[in-house]
Amino acid sequence: MSSEALSNLLREDRRFPPPPELAEKANVTAAAYEQASADRIAFWEEQARRLHWDREWDTALDWSNAPFAKWFVGGRINAAYNCVDRHVLAGKGDKVAFYWEGEPGDTRTITYADLLRDVCKAANALTELGVKTGDRVAIYMPMIPETVVAMLACARIGAPHTVVFGGFSASALRDRIQDCDARIVIAADGGYRRGAPSPLKPQVDQALTECPNVRNVIVVRRTGQDIDWTDGRDLWWHDVVERQSDQHTPEFFDSEHPLYVMYTSGTTGKPKGILHTTGGYLTQVAWTHWAVFDLKPDTDIFWTAADIGWVTGHSYIVYGPLANCTTSVMYEGTPDTPHRGRWWEIVDKYKVTILYCAPTAIRTFMKWGEDIPAKFDLSSLRVLGSVGEPINPEAYVWYRTHIGGGRTPVVDTWWQTETGAILVSPLPGVTSGKPGAAMAPLPGISADVVDDSGNSVPNGSGGYLVLTEPWPSMLRTLWGDDQRYIDTYWSRFPGKYFAGDGAKRDEDGDIWLLGRVDDVMNVSGHRLSTTEIESALVSHPMVAEAAVVGATDPTTGQAVVAFVILRGDVDTEGVDIAQELRNHVAKEIGPIAKPRQILVVEELPKTRSGKIMRRLLRDVAENRELGDVTTLTDSSVMDLIRENLAKQP
Ligand code: WT7
Repeated sequence: MSSEALSNLLREDRRFPPPPELAEKANVTAAAYEQASADRIAFWEEQARRLHWDREWDTALDWSNAPFAKWFVGGRINAAYNCVDRHVLAGKGDKVAFYWEGEPGDTRTITYADLLRDVCKAANALTELGVKTGDRVAIYMPMIPETVVAMLACARIGAPHTVVFGGFSASALRDRIQDCDARIVIAADGGYRRGAPSPLKPQVDQALTECPNVRNVIVVRRTGQDIDWTDGRDLWWHDVVERQSDQHTPEFFDSEHPLYVMYTSGTTGKPKGILHTTGGYLTQVAWTHWAVFDLKPDTDIFWTAADIGWVTGHSYIVYGPLANCTTSVMYEGTPDTPHRGRWWEIVDKYKVTILYCAPTAIRTFMKWGEDIPAKFDLSSLRVLGSVGEPINPEAYVWYRTHIGGGRTPVVDTWWQTETGAILVSPLPGVTSGKPGAAMAPLPGISADVVDDSGNSVPNGSGGYLVLTEPWPSMLRTLWGDDQRYIDTYWSRFPGKYFAGDGAKRDEDGDIWLLGRVDDVMNVSGHRLSTTEIESALVSHPMVAEAAVVGATDPTTGQAVVAFVILRGDVDTEGVDIAQELRNHVAKEIGPIAKPRQILVVEELPKTRSGKIMRRLLRDVAENRELGDVTTLTDSSVMDLIRENLAKQP
């Protein structure tokens, strides 16, 4: 973020205190901060008791082998039992778990009893296919109830799942299957997006040409599209799952048993497999879901408008809400299908009380105009959440005003795939919200803003966000790469977890997140690595070299801008280079990674040690005066780039 934008942000002085009725009945009060700071471990033990343990833990936290944490050591637990069985056993079988809304308008209502039956059948099917405790299962699905069932079935038998976002390409799917050596893939023929069936099975077929260890693909029929079929390998969900018994006795696993691996972009080209385990993760997603959204399980209708393929969906569509016996809404498609009021129609229809989404969506709705939500009755809403990227004050205030009717607190929740659950956020019944600020670490969380040498910065200064104590839902390691786990998160500031985000502490000591400080971009709340997109570009025969930057974009937060040097020996006559390369990136990584702009240049600015100076390219991409060019090998390179760009359309 530019320093001008930053100081504008920090001049923000609007305050929104909690509505008195909400504060009065709030799940969490200010006392929680004191209680947790008096004894953090006891605080988390109390939260862990919200769950059912087959055997209670002996030790709450074992940090003796830091930075490899173990939480609730000796405890035995089953995540699926906690999300489903125990609610049915408590007489809540008829309670709705999901109101599901398909994009074409088809709907399904799924109760906890339905979920239990389906999860048991799917668990039996996986067992029949030879899946054992500890085996990995890849899930590549649209937003349909079977995705939740598949995840819980894996959890139930202790087979860690790895859900790959349906917008990822065949090569991205292949890399993830290979990295965690998944043996079974659960997929669908396709899903609905933007009013049309969007295929998934062809990507699976293509990925599996290079994944010889995958024995079976279980295919859910969602769209009815024509698909290729590999006999002996491919099985229909309705054949293999439906005929199973609906009885299944859950086994209880060690608290540290792996629950899932979720891949996310890092600063190198290779995605990182973030490993989450069971007891600590479930404890923290359940507590934060209840505390941050002030969830009243008996009356709230909760909606996280995100994809299950991201951690937001894992923690706040699946595990947190189900652990709390919540009624949720789940929507398959895009916000503009068949019209731009679809989300608000859904809020109105199901009387949604809590909505959780990303700032990029809010900015899109701002662009479409406030008269669209104004056509619907949104008076059921009482808490609004934001996640994925910094929310600019204007979007925050628009959200509160035009969606929340000026009544609802907005909770700006900071967290990461790695953190598993929300760590820095206001509490809606306690905090006076400041538009644009994530405010303070939650009770039980120890965070700090530090300078380059790791010292805490005074109020009014900026630095890096770090976490100074382990927390229950933290990642345990990177799948198969302990050393990269240490190097990435624990080496920049020894003894502290480095999040990769810049942050500022204001005069009151409240925290504002300022975006990534590494080569990771945030486009529409999706995390992308500059290096990964550069590798995709140079894998095209036309490209000799590429540099990618994230340029500020009014809607998507950041946008991908690529600078490429073409190879001298290729004939580009009649080729739309930008189009060709954008499609290539979509094929290699996925449509979300497509550069907004591709600029062909003769040279790239490099330091003497050969590092590309992305900072200067960002200046160009954002049309700014150039920063310091003195470390360039050849400072005339930038003049050349500018001249060159002036000539391009
Ligand atoms: C990165 C993590 C958390 C689930 C979705 C994204 C950015 C996330 C906020 C926020 C400012 C935020 C950070 C973080 N981020 N939430 N409320 N304010 N920035 O998960 O893909 O792992 O990305 O998203 O830069 O490091 P992710």
